[in-house]
Amino acid sequence: MGLKSEVRSRKSGVRRQDLQKLWQNINQVAMKKSALITGGSRGIGFGIAKALAVEGYDLAINGMREESLVTGALDELRSYDVEVIYCRGDIGDGEARAEIVEKTIHSFGRLNVLVNNAGIAPRKRFDILETPEESYDLVLNTNLKGAFFLTQLVAKRMIEQKNTDSGFTACIINISSVSATVVSVNRGEYCIAKAGLSMATQLFAARLGEFEIPVYEIRPGVTATDMTAGVKEKYDKLINEGLTVQKRWGYPDDVGKAAAALARGDFPYSTGQVIMVDGGLTIQRL
Ligand SMILES: NC(=O)c1ccc[n+]([C@@H]2O[C@H](COP(=O)([O-])OP(=O)(O)OC[C@H]3O[C@@H](n4cnc5c(N)ncnc54)[C@H](OP(=O)(O)O)[C@@H]3O)[C@@H](O)[C@H]2O)c1
Repeated sequence: MGLKSEVRSRKSGVRRQDLQKLWQNINQVAMKKSALITGGSRGIGFGIAKALAVEGYDLAINGMREESLVTGALDELRSYDVEVIYCRGDIGDGEARAEIVEKTIHSFGRLNVLVNNAGIAPRKRFDILETPEESYDLVLNTNLKGAFFLTQLVAKRMIEQKNTDSGFTACIINISSVSATVVSVNRGEYCIAKAGLSMATQLFAARLGEFEIPVYEIRPGVTATDMTAGVKEKYDKLINEGLTVQKRWGYPDDVGKAAAALARGDFPYSTGQVIMVDGGLTIQRL
């Protein structure tokens, strides 16, 4: 029943409980939260998108592929009864970033959660003595510069929303990697980008503290996605030999659960912190 007809039926003697329920529904719609997830149509980003859909977030999913190629993923997210839009664009590009944010805020009226997840591995692994500049530039541009400037853009909008609505809650989550601290000399540019993202997390956490916008970092370990499909056998063997304490691959849902807990506010006094989702890979052992 629409609002007008509800109000009309009130005059004709509608029950008090029905009206209460109606206001509850109106409030729920007004309070609905939204999240922007870069690289959210597959892999870890999709795991995060599903976990936030379960929490009731409307979703803006960003990625590089054409929308027609990701409709299956978008429809799966819609099955959680949330609104889902697709914002195609390269997060390494300034104009695209602005369009992504505008489209999200125009569609949902607000943006409560930003998840900087999109990232690439070097197209080819080179020993750092041979890393080509193009590979360095591409990986840093996507994995670090893109996330840094998207955060800058979104943070300003979040501050505006905080200033106009005291009940508005927001947070930012960066998906880095164990590579922020674990050295791989055959993909140095990836490690440097992730270490930089880790510092960006602390910088924005410090800057946005006064606005009560927490910024967190999730550091996944070896996770089963398209990114790692090409090195599956290598990591099957390493995991079997004890690379991780928990003897299995990580899954996108593992990261999704951590992101949902952060977005829900389950870590209210931990801004700037790192949540490890690596099955114990980084525990130093003798
Ligand atoms: N898999 C792992 O073992 C692992 C471990 C630690 C950390 N991580 C990090 O987790 C994040 C997700 O990785 P994943 O394994 O899920 O990778 P993935 O399966 O390769 O997915 C990457 C996603 O990022 C998007 N993307 C790539 N470049 C983009 C750009 N310039 N602009 C916008 N979107 C872009 C892709 O868009 P399209 O779908 O449109 O191509 C895709 O959705 C990355 O930051 C990665 O570094 C992964």
